[in-house]
Amino acid sequence: MLLNPIVPLALLLVAPYTPEVSESCLSQYYYGTHGQQNVFITGDDDCLAEATLHLTSGAAVQLTEDVQQLVWLQHQAVDHSIKPATFRDEFDVFFSRLSVPPAEVSDSEQTVFSNQNAAKLLYRTESSALISVDPATALTLDLHLPRFWKASPLPSSPVPFIPVPSEAVERVKKILHGLKFDPVVASIVSNISVPQLRADVRYLSGESPQSEIVSRHSFSKGVLIAADWLKANFEAHGASCTLKPFLSGFAPNVVCLYEGSENTTETVLISAHYDSRGSFGSVRAPGGDDDGSGTTALLGIARVIARKGLKFRKNVQLVAFAGEEQGLYGSRYYARELYEKGANLTLMVQADMLGYHAAGEPPQLGLPDVIGTREVTQLVANLSAIYSPELKVGFTPACCSDHQSFHTNGFPATQVFERAGPIVDPMYHNSGDLSDREGYDFEQIKSIAKVQFATLLHTAGFDLPEHY
Ligand SMILES: *[C@@H]1O[C@H](CO)[C@@H](O)[C@H](O)[C@H]1NC(C)=O
Ligand SMILES: *[C@@H]1O[C@H](CO)[C@@H](O)[C@H](O)[C@H]1NC(C)=O
Ligand SMILES: *[C@@H]1O[C@H](CO)[C@@H](O)[C@H](O)[C@H]1NC(C)=O
Ligand SMILES: *[C@@H]1O[C@H](CO)[C@@H](O)[C@H](O)[C@H]1NC(C)=O
Ligand SMILES: [Zn+2]
Repeated sequence: MLLNPIVPLALLLVAPYTPEVSESCLSQYYYGTHGQQNVFITGDDDCLAEATLHLTSGAAVQLTEDVQQLVWLQHQAVDHSIKPATFRDEFDVFFSRLSVPPAEVSDSEQTVFSNQNAAKLLYRTESSALISVDPATALTLDLHLPRFWKASPLPSSPVPFIPVPSEAVERVKKILHGLKFDPVVASIVSNISVPQLRADVRYLSGESPQSEIVSRHSFSKGVLIAADWLKANFEAHGASCTLKPFLSGFAPNVVCLYEGSENTTETVLISAHYDSRGSFGSVRAPGGDDDGSGTTALLGIARVIARKGLKFRKNVQLVAFAGEEQGLYGSRYYARELYEKGANLTLMVQADMLGYHAAGEPPQLGLPDVIGTREVTQLVANLSAIYSPELKVGFTPACCSDHQSFHTNGFPATQVFERAGPIVDPMYHNSGDLSDREGYDFEQIKSIAKVQFATLLHTAGFDLPEHY
């Protein structure tokens, strides 16, 4: 794939997201936010000259004509206690295997990488890299990457650079400023059942003898079983669901709606991703924490909606995304679709990894420090203090789940995560990510799900049946 017939192209990597950049000519050449860097590709010299005035930091890379699919690789923010001392070497080994020209690859290696032309390393820092590979390889890189690295393919053409509009931020601020404890909300959110959360996670992870799921990797058989099971279970709890395919080969997004009682386009969305990732070379990808926990929290919320006979005033969507592990694919497509339809999203909250905390640590809620809408994050933090005071709230550098797709399409968005700090789950991206293990805490999942649910209730508004 050629990005642009004009060569040489300059590739710019820009660290901070500033209003100056979004208003400059560079905004036409935006290729998304990857890791925590904004990527722009342009051959427009005038714009480059103008842009350098706005950039406080960043790097430029020269692109050549033979560039294929560009993929950003990011080392995740993991705690030093689980970070291998060899993490730099792991990347080098991975890349050297990837970059062997096809002629020199033996048959056994060929099955590992289908790379038609040798991959190229274009940019590298200690914790990130930009590579060029053939498009088929780009989609399956997660199967080969060292454990803590995540891939995020760049789009094939520029995407709009859409800041969250100030009216949308004002709307969130209004909810935030009107916030006070509501005993009815407290009683509803506390109805989430821990034994039911456990049963649901065990089905999704394949720990339950009733489950045939071995993996929920985006291309697996099990992920399709999970999709049907999620749709059936959300529908059994009053939602209308659609399996929405987005890209050939990937499992679909599971999109579930509760129509509001008011005549309004306003919509509140809560979500998780139901695909998972296992260990290199293993077919098992149980994803008990990542992100069986967030998916189960959504289902736990749906169960309470039905049990209490809740009717929302605004429209509500519960969405389980696929393709997250390959680079936020499911949410990228869905957020784009909502943007193109002019959807009126008040806010969205993604739950990704709610279950784990280290021995001796209190239950926690981690909120994103960079990617997301500050006002939504503040709203969630305040609701946590009100409805789940047992959680210690703080920021996490663990970055870049599906809320990013919404934030970069101009929708107010944030994420809830299990730890006020970097990832510390020793089974992260591992085939041992089961729910039945030390450190996996269902009470913490419930506490965080209460916060996500309270955000939904305070934002969408609701009524209970008269007999309640
Ligand atoms: C939200 O929490 C902050 C402290 O974290 C507090 O200063 C502020 O008053 C709270 N706002 C509301 C509306 O409760
Ligand atoms: C949830 O509410 C139902 C009745 O509406 C009650 O029977 C059940 O015990 C409650 N569960 C929890 C965990 O509070
Ligand atoms: C809903 O609102 C729209 C626009 O505000 C209006 O055109 C429509 O008639 C309303 N529908 C009902 C059922 O009130
Ligand atoms: C979103 O909904 C609000 C409340 O009904 C309305 O005031 C606003 O105009 C809507 N915005 C869009 C873009 O439809
Ligand atoms: Zn995840």
